[in-house]
Amino acid sequence: MRQEFVTNSPEETFGAGRRFAASLVAGDVVALTGELGSGKTLFTQGIAEGLGVEDVVNSPTFKLIGEYDSTPPLYHFDFYRLESAEDAVALGIEHYFMGEGISVVEWADLFLQLIPDDAIEVTITVTGEKSREILAERREAETAGD
Ligand SMILES: Nc1ncnc2c1ncn2[C@@H]1O[C@H](COP(=O)(O)OP(=O)(O)O)[C@@H](O)[C@H]1O
Ligand SMILES: [Mg+2]
Repeated sequence: MRQEFVTNSPEETFGAGRRFAASLVAGDVVALTGELGSGKTLFTQGIAEGLGVEDVVNSPTFKLIGEYDSTPPLYHFDFYRLESAEDAVALGIEHYFMGEGISVVEWADLFLQLIPDDAIEVTITVTGEKSREILAERREAETAGD
């Protein structure tokens, strides 16, 4: 799976997330990377709307885990809010990742060791004040010895 989006406004990045959500299945982990202000949160909110969550934009900001009651449920993490990988483990992140929900992680690159081998990596690149390039690619789970 490889998808590319070019956006020229916050609304378009939200819309890209919404369209991207259509390719997600239960159990997926989405690992978001991109500098501060690149649009990771907006893209995630688009995913939530794509999964059927209503009123995403007005939902309260979460502390450590944002949970949305969609089908499948959506779990939103932001590694920037954690001190260490141990904090994520203490939250039970592996159980979320292994579960039947869809997990989206902002700042996945901060603790990449926690991200499953078959996660979908989404990289957002700021190409201008209002423009972004968004590349989504599923990691190939490598087998030992390859
Ligand atoms: N094409 C674009 N896509 C996404 N955000 C954009 C775009 N152009 C401008 N912006 C602005 O960039 C910021 C993105 O914020 P946010 O989604 O919170 O980023 P992050 O979670 O990566 O820090 C918002 O202030 C938004 O208005
Ligand atoms: Mg953010």
